[in-house]
Amino acid sequence: MSKPILEIKNLRKSFGGVNAVSGVNLTVKEKETLAIIGPNGAGKTTFYNLLSGRMVPSGGSILLNGQDITGLPPHKVSRMGISRSFQINNIFTDFTVRENVEVALTALHKQSRRWYNFASNNRQIQEEAEKILERLALKDLAHQRAGTISYGDKRLLEIAVVLATAPSIVLLDEPTAGMTPEETRKVINLIHNLSSTGEYTFLITEHDMEVVFSVADRIMVMHRGSPLVIGEPEEVRQNPEVRVAYLGEELEEEQSA
Ligand SMILES: Nc1ncnc2c1ncn2[C@@H]1O[C@H](COP(=O)(O)OP(=O)(O)OP(=O)(O)O)[C@@H](O)[C@H]1O
Ligand SMILES: [Mg+2]
Repeated sequence: MSKPILEIKNLRKSFGGVNAVSGVNLTVKEKETLAIIGPNGAGKTTFYNLLSGRMVPSGGSILLNGQDITGLPPHKVSRMGISRSFQINNIFTDFTVRENVEVALTALHKQSRRWYNFASNNRQIQEEAEKILERLALKDLAHQRAGTISYGDKRLLEIAVVLATAPSIVLLDEPTAGMTPEETRKVINLIHNLSSTGEYTFLITEHDMEVVFSVADRIMVMHRGSPLVIGEPEEVRQNPEVRVAYLGEELEEEQSA
């Protein structure tokens, strides 16, 4: 864990008078798993939207491997190696689990001009699809239609499709949202396994603290648009300001209940 893969400087986004992201400075190290946490409205999703090119920043810069990608559209950002998990409706429900991964791989190979010969590449795609399905524990479901598998498995398929684009940075947006505790534990294990391959850098936004503390190498706590603290899990757990930020959230919930 050494070289910076992402260098984010004074990144800002405002909507009218609301400063959703108000000065994020962050260096993401190659191959680390960085969790982004914070109360509702802290700016996590907006930060993701800036990174993936869905929104143009109001100010600041994003360097990917030293290259300025600030304000580039999503397809360019994705081609440069930042891929995010999309909503379930991006999965082709009439295709099998395996076909969904193969479609994503085919798109990648066409785009990278490695698509010389269909027959030989087809074999290569099948092997790659196999490897990805195995990594996400979806191999047994390979021949089922994507529309018929469980919610948890659909979310895993979403991640499989992201991995098929050969990203260097994977943005996971609440990967365990809506899952049962059992599915959540499965996802935690899979993310562990994926990060131990040393192929990916993960950014994960997540509300489930069990997930955060078991997968993250570092944690960025966002509060009102900027980082309250960026550090290793233990350091973050002990931080009094973090406790107050979360306690604040709990008090608000109690008041509105
Ligand atoms: N498209 C938008 N237009 C106007 N305001 C927005 C927009 N998107 C986000 N905001 C505002 O920016 C602030 C940050 O929102 P954001 O969705 O990034 O928070 P979050 O940390 O993802 O919250 P949550 O944990 O609830 O998902 C909020 O005040 C929100 O109302
Ligand atoms: Mg959000």
